[in-house]
Amino acid sequence: HPHLQTDPTCGLVFEGVALNAIADAVGTPCWVMGAGTLRHRLRRMQAAMQAAGLNVGIHYAVKANDHTAVLSLIGEEGHGADIVSGGELARTQRAGIAAGRVVFSGVGKTDAELEQAISLGVGQINVESAEELAIISAIASRLGRTAKVALRVNPDVDAKTHAKITTGLAANKFGIPFADAAALYAHAASLPGVQPVGFATHIGSQILTAAPYRAAYARVATLVRSVRDSGLSVEVVDCGGGLGISYRTEAEGQPEALAGAIRAELGDLGVRLAIEPGRWLAGPAGVLLSSVILRKEQGMAAPFLVLDSAMNELLRPSMYDAWHGILPLAPQAFSQPTELAHVVGPVCESGDTFARDRLLPRLERGARVAILDTGAYGSVMSSTYNSRPLAAQVLVEDGRWKVIRHRQTVEELWQDETMPSHLAGHA
Ligand code: LLP
Repeated sequence: HPHLQTDPTCGLVFEGVALNAIADAVGTPCWVMGAGTLRHRLRRMQAAMQAAGLNVGIHYAVKANDHTAVLSLIGEEGHGADIVSGGELARTQRAGIAAGRVVFSGVGKTDAELEQAISLGVGQINVESAEELAIISAIASRLGRTAKVALRVNPDVDAKTHAKITTGLAANKFGIPFADAAALYAHAASLPGVQPVGFATHIGSQILTAAPYRAAYARVATLVRSVRDSGLSVEVVDCGGGLGISYRTEAEGQPEALAGAIRAELGDLGVRLAIEPGRWLAGPAGVLLSSVILRKEQGMAAPFLVLDSAMNELLRPSMYDAWHGILPLAPQAFSQPTELAHVVGPVCESGDTFARDRLLPRLERGARVAILDTGAYGSVMSSTYNSRPLAAQVLVEDGRWKVIRHRQTVEELWQDETMPSHLAGHA
């Protein structure tokens, strides 16, 4: 982690800010997002595409981290967005990302969401089924608009990632079966209200090698050629997201390898290219600060370190058995003898476990830790389960920091609830 250092006097430092100073002021649990890391990774991704001689539009996958400050930074750096809901669309508009630079993906878009997107003039809608194509055609026609659509193809390629984040197999709910795509494209060209502009594919997430990408893009290239042979024009290929990061010891997915796969399979088609990365950009740019509520000793066995953050903050370990690095914040922690410990949250489920048998310096009650690589699919997957208010969020850049979301208060937990009158007397 080039932006994370250990300082002998102030402990763990992220982009020039001592994380202990943030925790002192804001408390824990607290998400900290590094704007410098995010910018650095955006530029590295873009440079890798340019070095391969490709002009690839970057559409940041908003679902990874949808904070308006993050989206504003993406827009400021000149990039667009990949969205999957009306809520995400509204956020991009609030953050000043032009609608023309927004791609609308997702397997089930409601009529209201499609109306919103078509009225705003989003740059592209990725269509996931024949049924959805008919609906878009009808809605756009009614609005007197023409929606640019790309067909999301399911290439039936194994991304070799966790089953819950694999999307490109025929058994998955995503995309149009490869065998049906050419005919549906021709059908789209005959429909009112829609203009088919190309194809999209996305095979999954946390992909670490280029091979599955090449296999998927090769199939898409075949499709582009055969559709063109039939006399139709294809202007765009959206190559999806999914590039993985190093959570543990695995080698991080390389943007250069992704660029190589795109160039090898799609480079000579003369199409406009786009990618939809989320995790690779935002994941390493965030940490979750937590405190040890207590050490629960287990005799000779590994103790339980119970944190003040839980599965309702960071769901990934419970949901995908994900491994996240855990580092103590205090400088003296690194000179303590190490031990094996189980790191858990206080929520009443055994699945509320961040790490088992983790080698850590001995941590006492009150010690603070940073849970690493939580900038993507971290805060966005939070809930208030167990009536635990949403954690505070902070943005750091150039040695300064700012709260970008206040810690939710307990009163805010119920402020949107209403009481039926026959029960109101008891409140
Ligand atoms: N495009 C589409 C159509 C997607 O479905 C996704 C992610 C992306 C792009 C961005 O993928 P990325 O570059 O971030 O891998 N919550 C899970 C990850 C779910 C990913 C869903 N789709 C996790 O925490 O691992």
